[in-house]
This record gives sequence, structure tokens and C-alpha cells, in this order.
Amino acid sequence: MNIVIVGAQWGDEGKGKVIDVLTEDMDILVRYQGGNNAGHTVVVDGREFIFHLIPSGLLHPGKIGLLGNGVVIDPEVLLAEMDRLRARGVIVEEAVKVSDQAHVIFPYHKRLDLAREAFLPGRLGTTGRGIGPCYMDKIARVGIRIADLAHADVLAERIERNLAEKMPLLRAWHDTEPLDRDALLAQYLEYGRRLAPHVVNGVQFLREALGSGKRLLFEGAQGTMLDIDHGTYPYVTSSNATAGGACTGTGVPPTAIDRVLGVVKAYTTRVGEGPLPTEFGPDLMERIRAKGKEFGATTGRPRRCGWFDAIVARHAVWVNGCDAVAVTKLDVLDELDPIRICTGYRAADGRLLEYFPSELKTLHGCEPVYETLPGWKADTGAAERYEDLPQGARAYLRRLEDLIGVPICLVSTGSKREQAFKTEGWARRLTRKNAITA
Ligand code: IMP
Repeated sequence: MNIVIVGAQWGDEGKGKVIDVLTEDMDILVRYQGGNNAGHTVVVDGREFIFHLIPSGLLHPGKIGLLGNGVVIDPEVLLAEMDRLRARGVIVEEAVKVSDQAHVIFPYHKRLDLAREAFLPGRLGTTGRGIGPCYMDKIARVGIRIADLAHADVLAERIERNLAEKMPLLRAWHDTEPLDRDALLAQYLEYGRRLAPHVVNGVQFLREALGSGKRLLFEGAQGTMLDIDHGTYPYVTSSNATAGGACTGTGVPPTAIDRVLGVVKAYTTRVGEGPLPTEFGPDLMERIRAKGKEFGATTGRPRRCGWFDAIVARHAVWVNGCDAVAVTKLDVLDELDPIRICTGYRAADGRLLEYFPSELKTLHGCEPVYETLPGWKADTGAAERYEDLPQGARAYLRRLEDLIGVPICLVSTGSKREQAFKTEGWARRLTRKNAITA
């Protein structure tokens, strides 16, 4: 069974927690897009771990993590994360694999990212990690890949070409600090030397793994609404965070993927600029942000919070082909009464939209249409099964299921590993046996 996990909102849905629950049954954990703009937080035995590049499931012993060709890699960040895993006793040389086709982030990418945000109008609120500029180079066919770090002559030539292109642009955007080609070359050759034991032909590696019956878990970073094609363009990241990215970003064919699991928070959040139709007013914002600890795992920025948006979730279920969804952070809503769910958008011309509009101009003119449910005003953090939840919380989840059209297979009610339980939807949609008889 090979499963793709995707964020079904704007990222930060709590995928790390869901992945952690699923990992036990998996052999290889695969990242297929994004870079260290992502941040997965996992709490084990009261200790918090934040991962940016390496799949968080490697905290389970004996698992292998692969960064696929679709990922963009900042070697400094990757090496530091490997050191942290080593300190946890993980045999990193066996556990971490890196595709030789993945693209590499250089200092000029980060500087271009920051300078563009500072200098040009239309700030996106990026994480400033150089993600967009690195993908720009990939598409412009001037990028530098992991395989190139092993060849001094190739690397020197590519760095030279990139500096010739980028330095004038940086200067024009008031970043005048020089970058020395030889120093950069030496630094990246050294990164290449240290990464060499981890570098594999990613396509071949996964092909052989599938051939020997290994089970793959593909971890999507960010979320559907940050997808370069299917999100709120231009307020998106630069990669395909949706399930299709799992194929292009690894070389595994669509026919090898058995299931897609979407992850939604019981409410909605986003970091950075761009539309968030169900955004709370200041009081609720403050309350939910504090209760949900809604601060970015990567940049520490406060996240914007809002009501659950069924239009967004339904869009995500469709473009990803989700078989089921996991709902996280239900406990954050414990004290709220009433609770609202967005079921449609009222456009400026009075039409009721039941799908996410393609361009922001239409969206800006829309008002969310809400349905109101009573709150449950009780603690859900100790629930061990669906039946333990207060009646109001079960009614809320059932309504979400109705609106998004697929079963809820997992509910999480706190950050600890044990605060999550599988529901009946798990068996209905996430096991091969049931799929055949369904
Ligand atoms: P970039 O990916 O750094 O280029 O940032 C583009 C947009 O995606 C910004 O709004 C970021 O805040 C957002 N973003 C990128 N990565 C994440 C993530 O892992 N979670 C939530 N938002 C993200």
C-alpha cells in the first residue's frame, strides 16, 4: 500500500502528526516537493521535534527517508538536520537518501527571495528560504542539481553563469554584498562530499523498493491552496503540493499510488499574504491563535486563523483525489460556541459559488456563506475513540464529512502522539482489503 498525504488547506494542517501515526506501517518516507520552507512538528515523549527537509517519520527506528527530485535542497539545512537525527541515535547514513536530480539552493536564491520581497511591490510573504528563485532556475534550465556537486568543473561553470545573471539583479534590488565564485565553489564541493553517502538515483531507488514490496509514504509539504497551479495564485509556493506532485517529484508512476489522504485542521489557517475568505475578526483570532499555538514552525510568524471552509476542503478532495481526510486540532474548538462552517461564497453579483474561484478578483468580491452549529464546550483532549467525543463534536465532524464528501479516517485532539484515533472511515477507505470489497 503506497499512500500520499497532502495538506488540504494552506499548509500547517498537522500533517506531521498524521504521518507519525501512519509511519509504523510504512518502509520509505518520501518528500516530493518544496524545501525548508516546510516545517513539521512532532512531539514524542514530551519532546518537540521540528523537521524542515527530512521526513519526520524517521523518528521511528528502521525507516528510510528519501528527498525526491522535486525537492529543493539547502545543503546546510539538510546537514544540520542529519546531525540532529544522529544525536537521537538514528543511523543517518542508512536512513537518509537524496535524489541526485534534486535542485540545490544557493545563497543567491535566498538573497533574491528576500530582496524581491523587500524591493518590489506585491509582497507574497514568502518564508525567505530561496524556494521560489531555486524553482525559477530549475524551470529556466540553469539550476544546479545534487549530482553536479560531485563535479568541480561542472559546478564551477554553473556557478559562474548564475552569478553573472544574478548579481546585477541583486544590485538593482539594493543588495550589493558581493558573492565570491571560488568560495562558493569550495563550500558547495564540501557539501557535496558530505552528502555523497546519501545520494542515490531516486527513480531507480524507488523502483527497486517497489519491486521488493516496500511500502511508500509520500509526504506533501505545504498545502493544496499553496499549490502553484491549484492554489490562490500568486499567493502560493512554487511547487505542486498536490498529490500529482508525488509522481513528478519522484518518478513513481500514478498507477503505483494506492491511496491519497488529505489532512485538514478543524478550522483554517494560513501564513503570509493572500486571501483567507473565512478569516476571524480580531477577538476570535487572538483566542484561537493562542489556544492552537498558531505560529509558523519555520518562521515563527503568527498564522492567520478562520472558520472551516468546506469550499476549500472540497476543492482539495477533488484535485488530490483524496480517499479520506484526517481532521486535526479538534480540541482547539472545545470552548467555542457557536461554531461556523463556510458552505459557499456569495459573489458580488449575488450568485452562490460552490467552488473555489480561479482568480482573486472574483474571490475578493465574495462573502462566505456560513452554517452555524452549537459548540460542545467540553474537553476532547482525552478522547481515545470517536465514541468518546461529546455529541456536539461528533455532529460537527459528521457535518464536515457530508460537506466534503469523503470519510474522516483519523481525528487528532492534541499534539501528543497518543491524542489521535482512527475512525470507521479508516477501514472504509484506507485498507486494501476494504477497497477491493467496496
Ligand atoms: P515560499 O514557499 O517561501 O516561496 O512562500 C510562499 C507562500 O507559501 C508564503 O505565503 C508562505 O508563508 C507559504 N508557505 C510556504 N511554506 C509553507 C508551509 O510549510 N506552511 C505554511 N505556509 C507556507
